[in-house]
Amino acid sequence: MADLHVVILAAGKGTRMKSALPKVLHRVGGLPMIDHVIGAAHALGPRSVTIVVGHQADVLKAALSAHSDVTFVVQEPQLGTAHALLTTAPALRGASGTMVLLSGDVPLLSSKTLKTLLDRHESAGAAATVITAVIDDPTGYGRIVRSGEKIARIVEHRDATEQERAIREINSGIYAFALDGLFDALRNVAAENAQREYYLPDVIALYRRQGRGVETLLVSNVDEIRGINSRIELAAVSRIVRQNKNTELMAAGVTIEDPATTYIDPGVTIGADTILHPGVSIEGRSTIGGGCEIHSGARIIDSRVGDRVTVNNCCVITESSLAADSRVGPFAHLRGGAFVGEGARVGNFVELKKTTLGPGSKAMHLSYLGDAEIGANVNIGAGTITCNYDGVAKNQTTIEDGAFIGSDSQLIAPVTVGKGAYVGSGTTVRENVPAGALAVSAGKQRNIDGWVEKRRKKRD
Ligand code: UD1
Ligand code: CA
Repeated sequence: MADLHVVILAAGKGTRMKSALPKVLHRVGGLPMIDHVIGAAHALGPRSVTIVVGHQADVLKAALSAHSDVTFVVQEPQLGTAHALLTTAPALRGASGTMVLLSGDVPLLSSKTLKTLLDRHESAGAAATVITAVIDDPTGYGRIVRSGEKIARIVEHRDATEQERAIREINSGIYAFALDGLFDALRNVAAENAQREYYLPDVIALYRRQGRGVETLLVSNVDEIRGINSRIELAAVSRIVRQNKNTELMAAGVTIEDPATTYIDPGVTIGADTILHPGVSIEGRSTIGGGCEIHSGARIIDSRVGDRVTVNNCCVITESSLAADSRVGPFAHLRGGAFVGEGARVGNFVELKKTTLGPGSKAMHLSYLGDAEIGANVNIGAGTITCNYDGVAKNQTTIEDGAFIGSDSQLIAPVTVGKGAYVGSGTTVRENVPAGALAVSAGKQRNIDGWVEKRRKKRD
């Protein structure tokens, strides 16, 4: 195979998005749309990946800084797609072989289709090969004008005649080019069109006039080549990504009660016999075990959930872990590396931050547990609060195995409650509680007999 270089165009303003954010950073399936494109590019094992940026170039470069293996080229001003590709000439000086041109706003293209494109292009020895598709509503796309079997040229929607607009075969904006002679051809493209822009598709007609070989690859899955130019198209493409993910999970044994309202990012894994109720979101790099039940309104982000876990309604779980057979919610908030041990239970209106709740332990009602190490079989009473912040630093609370924390207690960290110790209701724990001890801090209760009756008489 010839050397392969990939160029991704992403300099355009994306006017139709009406957004302060560069178009290609809008998210599809939880990732900026251009990340999907970069992923497909890398899957081809190219010698180089060059991204053409321009509008808000600095924002884009900063957002993509994690991709150390791409080169950025700035196109300023943005005079059209042919001009955009021409700006990569210095970066690709001396390069030979094949260039694959991708668009930052076409995120669903698979690397499989790109490999087919390369095969077709290289086996035909073509100067250019264009991916095309036949779609029901071609509005806005460039149309493939053929003479006989062969592609003759591509005409943009704006420049097309009524007759040409009736053509339903469209240009995907994805091409393979022989690098040989490409930049010379780009220099010969004129801006004689409605937008006064240098159109890359004009290279096709130029090559045909020069007698160079131009091929097309017609893809049958039109979803792959959908471009995103507006929020409406963003929603349409996002829906396709979701449907594909849901279909894949259902085929693998996950019950999704209402796929239309279930939002699962592409990077999520879920075990068989897990049931997802309507309105669940599972995002980022989350993994969910088998036999779980996740109820409506739960949002799980970058978290690990073991087997047979129940997540009740309206829980928010971020960067946390739930071990097998645990149950959380409804209305629980787990974040910052919270860990719920095997068979442990977290009830309603309980927040866990950077806290381990050991196996078999329970915190069922109205608690804040932050920066705490809680052992096995501990009972955390309703309204317990770890006072982990002294205004300057975060401090640690340790509650050892089998301890019992009475309701409405405050644990002023740093503090340790020893193994099997009891903390009476309403205690403010300022000092360590030894194993097996009972801690109480509330004053002795006083009852004033007949007080209610006396007060009433006074008022009368
Ligand atoms: C383009 C094609 C059209 C095709 C469609 C497929 C042209 C002239 N038209 O139209 O035939 O059917 O894609 O989706 O190529 N860009 C730059 N610099 C520029 C202009 C654009 O980098 O000066 C980038 C954009 O950021 C975008 C890509 O090139 O990623 C395509 O540009 P866009 O304006 O979206 O072209 P379309 O009108 O969609
Ligand atoms: Ca586009």
